[in-house]
Amino acid sequence: MTDTSREPLSPLRWENGVLMVLDQRALPGRTEWLVARSADDVVVAIRDMAVRGAPAIGIAAAWGVVLAACSGGREGVVAALPRLAAARPTAVNLHWALERMEGVLGRAPDAELATALEAEARLIQEEDLAQNRRMAELGAAFIAPGARVLTHCNTGALATAGIGTALGVIREAHRQGKLAAVYATETRPWMQGARLTIWELSQEGIPATLITEGAAGQLMQREGIDWLIVGADRITANGDTANKIGTYSLAVLAKAHGAKVMVVAPGSTIDLRLPDGGSIPIEQREAAEILRAAGLTEAPPGIAVSNPAFDVTPALMIDVIVTERGAVEQPGAGRMQALFSEQKQ
Ligand code: MRU
Repeated sequence: MTDTSREPLSPLRWENGVLMVLDQRALPGRTEWLVARSADDVVVAIRDMAVRGAPAIGIAAAWGVVLAACSGGREGVVAALPRLAAARPTAVNLHWALERMEGVLGRAPDAELATALEAEARLIQEEDLAQNRRMAELGAAFIAPGARVLTHCNTGALATAGIGTALGVIREAHRQGKLAAVYATETRPWMQGARLTIWELSQEGIPATLITEGAAGQLMQREGIDWLIVGADRITANGDTANKIGTYSLAVLAKAHGAKVMVVAPGSTIDLRLPDGGSIPIEQREAAEILRAAGLTEAPPGIAVSNPAFDVTPALMIDVIVTERGAVEQPGAGRMQALFSEQKQ
C-alpha cells in the first residue's frame, strides 16, 4: 500500500488509474504515499485524515468517483456518491465536487462515463490551483509592508491542489517582501500547524514562529499582530465562516487587539444555501484524538471529552473574505450574494 520513494509536490496525483495520496499523518517525519484503488479507499483516506483541508478533500472525492466508475460503471458511481459525501461533514467543497461529478454522470453516455468523469476530476484539481494563484495575489494586496501575520491550521499546498489559500496569501506577501513576521499555531489535536504549515514554510525558506494556541493572546498583547489569515471549510450566505476549531477564539482575540481578520477560500467553499453559520454541520471527532495529543490512552473515569473539529466565526468579525472572484470587505449577505449568486443558484 505504501510507497516511500517519491518527493512531495502536491498531495494528490492521478497516476495510471489509481489515486496517489500523500499521507499527511506521517509528515513531516516521513513522506509516504497511499495508493487509493477504490472509492472506499478514498473515503477512508478522507475520514482518517490522510488527506485533509477543504479543497483537497473535494478533489480527492472527485477522484474517488472516477475510481468507482472504473470498477463499477454507472451503478458503482451511484453507490459510491453517498459514501464519499459522508466521509467528513463540514467542508462543503466535498459536496460541491460530488455535485459536479454527478452532473457529468447525468450527461455522459455509458461508454464515455469513466473518461468524462476523469476529465472533470482533472479540471476540478486544475481550477483549484489556478484559483489559489489568483487569491494569493488578491489577498497579498491587502497586506501592508512590515506586516506581522498569524495563521491557524494548514491551508497550504497540502490542503489544496497546490499553493494554498491563506498560506498562499502568506507565500505571496513574503515574495513581495511585505512580511516582518509569520506566526503559526500548532493547531490541536492534529497539529496541522506544527507538522504541516511550519514544514511547508521552512521548505520555502519563509521564516516563521510556531506558538501554542494559548499563546496567541499574549503574542497580540505584547508584540502585536496586524492580520489573522485563515482558510475556511464552509462560508454561508451571510459570510459566517466555519474553519478549524480555534479560529473563532483567535478572531475574538484579533478584534480585542485591533488586528484584522482575513478569510481566504475559493468559490467551492461558499454555501449560499445556508443562511448563516448556525446551520453549518460541525464535525465531532473521536475523543481518542485529544487524549492521544495529551499522551493519554483513556480519559479518567467521569471525565467527558468533546472534540469539535471546527467552529464558526461570525461575519461581523471578518474584515475581508478573499475568493478567486474578488475580495468581499466587511462581508454580509448582500455582498456575498452579489459575488456568488450566479455561480451557486
Ligand atoms: O481538519 P482539517 O485539517 O481538514 O481542517 C482544515 C482546515 O480547517 C483548513 O483551515 C480549511 O480546510 C481550509 S484549507 C485550504
